[in-house]
Amino acid sequence: MWSDVTQRAAAATPDAPDASGSPQRKASSVNGFLQIERLSKAYVPGKPVFADVSFVLDKGEFVCIIGHSGCGKTTILNVLAGLDTATSGNVIMDGREISGPSLDRGVVFQSHALMPWLTVRQNIAFAVKSRWPDWKSTQVTAHVEKFVALVGLSPAIDKKPSQLSGGMKQRVGIARAFSIQPKMLLLDEPFGALDALTRGTIQDELMAIVRQTQQTVFMITHDVDEAILLADRILLMSNGNETPDGYRPGGIAEVVVNPLPRDRTRASLHHLDGYYALRNHIVDFLVTRAKAH
Ligand SMILES: Nc1ncnc2c1ncn2[C@@H]1O[C@H](COP(=O)(O)OP(=O)(O)O)[C@@H](O)[C@H]1O
Ligand SMILES: [Mg+2]
Repeated sequence: MWSDVTQRAAAATPDAPDASGSPQRKASSVNGFLQIERLSKAYVPGKPVFADVSFVLDKGEFVCIIGHSGCGKTTILNVLAGLDTATSGNVIMDGREISGPSLDRGVVFQSHALMPWLTVRQNIAFAVKSRWPDWKSTQVTAHVEKFVALVGLSPAIDKKPSQLSGGMKQRVGIARAFSIQPKMLLLDEPFGALDALTRGTIQDELMAIVRQTQQTVFMITHDVDEAILLADRILLMSNGNETPDGYRPGGIAEVVVNPLPRDRTRASLHHLDGYYALRNHIVDFLVTRAKAH
């Protein structure tokens, strides 16, 4: 079965099928690349948005987190990015505690967050020069052009964000995040504002680049099919809610291991055995278990 309980998120998952269908996850699960331990965040004292959030990401793994608005997904991502601090708990990446923003982590926000006065080339070059301050300009240029080509934007490389469509702007954000060759990518609903057609194309591009570069990715989405397409594992997050026994913080309610073959595509997804069962399970969670009623 692909469904899993919370505690397993923090522990090794020796019997979970991996994305290729083999029965064993890598042994590295035990000392995961990214370890989140008992994280909680309270904006209001005594009433944490979420508490006791623990999970592990392996190197090269693509993990999506899905949950209703307000459950704390962005807060978790911001803590992983080093842009916010948790009230309690630890985040350890590659053996080191995360204590602030770093070029080890590339972030793509829901809104593209480009510098409007700079062209595509200049936006990406800015990041590349921050990452490698000693590089010669020819080296920076070649590197920038490579990543712009990767997301299919070469013809627009000297345009400013205001001259680009929403999909193109998101592509620039993705190229910028990849161009610094981070150890990990953090994506906050990167396709949320896009129309379905553009979203599909960029999902395909992202999937191809991630496979090619074996990136470790943590991505927030509210789109069940997007999570099933992209993720090796899907974290189902519940909202905090008032119960007869008092307030209960939100948290990771369940970790779902994606059993579908990793070479799945958008076109093949709904023909695959197990797709509907997986989809129904996640939708049922969102409808009946994720939120207080
Ligand atoms: N800076 C902040 N100050 C106070 N409350 C905040 C702040 N940021 C987020 N929150 C609250 O924390 C909860 C979780 O927010 P967020 O992490 O953005 O959720 P999600 O991304 O899952 O929609 C929400 O109720 C939100 O209003
Ligand atoms: Mg959010």
